[in-house]
Amino acid sequence: MALTGTKEYKNYIGGEWVEAAGGGTFETTNPATGDTLGVFPLSTREDMDRAVAAAKEAYETWRLVPAPKRAEILFRVAQRFVERKDELAEEMVKEMGKVRPEAAGDVQEAIDMTYYMAGEGRRLFGATTPSELPDKFMMSTRNPVGVVGAITPWNFPIAIPSWKIAPALVCGNTVVFKPAEDTPLLAERFVEIFEEAGLPPGVLNIVHGAGEDVGAHLVGHPDVPLISFTGSREVGIQVTKEAAPYLKHVHLELGGKNAIIVMDDADVDLSINGIVWSAFGTSGQRCTAASRVIASDRVYDELESKVVSAAEGLTLGDGLDDETDVGPVINRAALDKIHSYTEIGKDEGAKLLTGGEVATGNGLDRGFFYRPTVFGDVDPGMRIAQEEIFGPTTALMRATDVDEAIRIANGIEFGLSSSIFTRDVNKAFRAMRDLVAGITYVNAGTTGAEVHLPFGGTKATGNGHREAGQAALDFYTEWKSIYVDYSGKLQRAQIDNAERPAP
Ligand code: UN1
Repeated sequence: MALTGTKEYKNYIGGEWVEAAGGGTFETTNPATGDTLGVFPLSTREDMDRAVAAAKEAYETWRLVPAPKRAEILFRVAQRFVERKDELAEEMVKEMGKVRPEAAGDVQEAIDMTYYMAGEGRRLFGATTPSELPDKFMMSTRNPVGVVGAITPWNFPIAIPSWKIAPALVCGNTVVFKPAEDTPLLAERFVEIFEEAGLPPGVLNIVHGAGEDVGAHLVGHPDVPLISFTGSREVGIQVTKEAAPYLKHVHLELGGKNAIIVMDDADVDLSINGIVWSAFGTSGQRCTAASRVIASDRVYDELESKVVSAAEGLTLGDGLDDETDVGPVINRAALDKIHSYTEIGKDEGAKLLTGGEVATGNGLDRGFFYRPTVFGDVDPGMRIAQEEIFGPTTALMRATDVDEAIRIANGIEFGLSSSIFTRDVNKAFRAMRDLVAGITYVNAGTTGAEVHLPFGGTKATGNGHREAGQAALDFYTEWKSIYVDYSGKLQRAQIDNAERPAP
């Protein structure tokens, strides 16, 4: 039940803020301090049914609103994100734990995405092409699909919802949004902004609650033809299975085990900056985080000692404190999982060089803090070099040359981000071609994707779809091919055409 004085929040369904049908609630807390930030509805399947019905009804009018008009609302949304950026960033630090500049970056990513997709309102280009027959016109158009189920993670609580919801809406779909249980407050703010910008009722709905309950019900709902899910590989497989009987279109953004390669011709100090930022920024809780480093034999020792001393120089603390470099991890389960991988690494015989423990003292005991952790001389087959830990842990490995480095980088089941530090253009181009990943950086770490290129990964990172960029439009629309015959007679493609003499 709600603590006295703790604000209670609601679902947003059909343009109304409403309580969950069963009256159940859950709390959101600050992972740095344990403080309760708000109480949210623990929704039931009945609530989800109502949200889907509202979105289905709204779709029939929203799809007919001209796309440039839909986009005008998104422009207003982007402006509101700009106006509320500092306030949202502060709430994000409190609810999710990332440090303030990163939280501001998360909001900025939503600003960028919303402006970008608003711009699509006056594009959404199709093609025209000549017909093989006279007096006949042909074109392709992008059409909306219907109700989108958007299921989002806690690590980018404003940015990732915008990746799904901005393109979905500009294309003419309506949305039921089921945010992560760890960051409902930011999700609520996200929806408030769309309401303030004048989005019509039912076009965007939010239902809070448990993934295995209301999330699963959304995925299996017959009136929701599109599902976009960001989360774990295991849940991604579950989503695929539950959506399969309806032949839904499913977009998945799953795990990563991203590697930074450092060649012997690289600027090693620059690579250290890239490694530290990509491995320990956001406490390693990005799908794009660098949880592996593959260094050329000739630079390995220098790199190892510099990474360790940089990791030891990072200040842990509350993300609201300007001194803090690394905030908490999201919850107790995450802390336990991260530590279990430290034990696994030690048992496997990897060298624990620094970290490897829950951080305590200086008020850290109130939250979920883990020391930046570096393992050395890791074998590429070890579990700490294969499995996603989603915390501030990275594994250093050796390679003799670029071929071996690329082989090790590719020797995992995921394929999201990748990076190479080198001054040799030939090696850089080999890496750009041969790293089997959705993203490759040259002379930068594995994080930092911008909104106007496709985002996503190969292999077990997803199912071939991409979000962001123009690629997002391919998921949120279906192509329609239109043929207009103005000859006034029956013209048969492939048949009447074939009778004409060859040139
Ligand atoms: C994620 O971790 O799921 O490239 C998203 C980056 C950010 C997005 C990360 N722009 O790291």
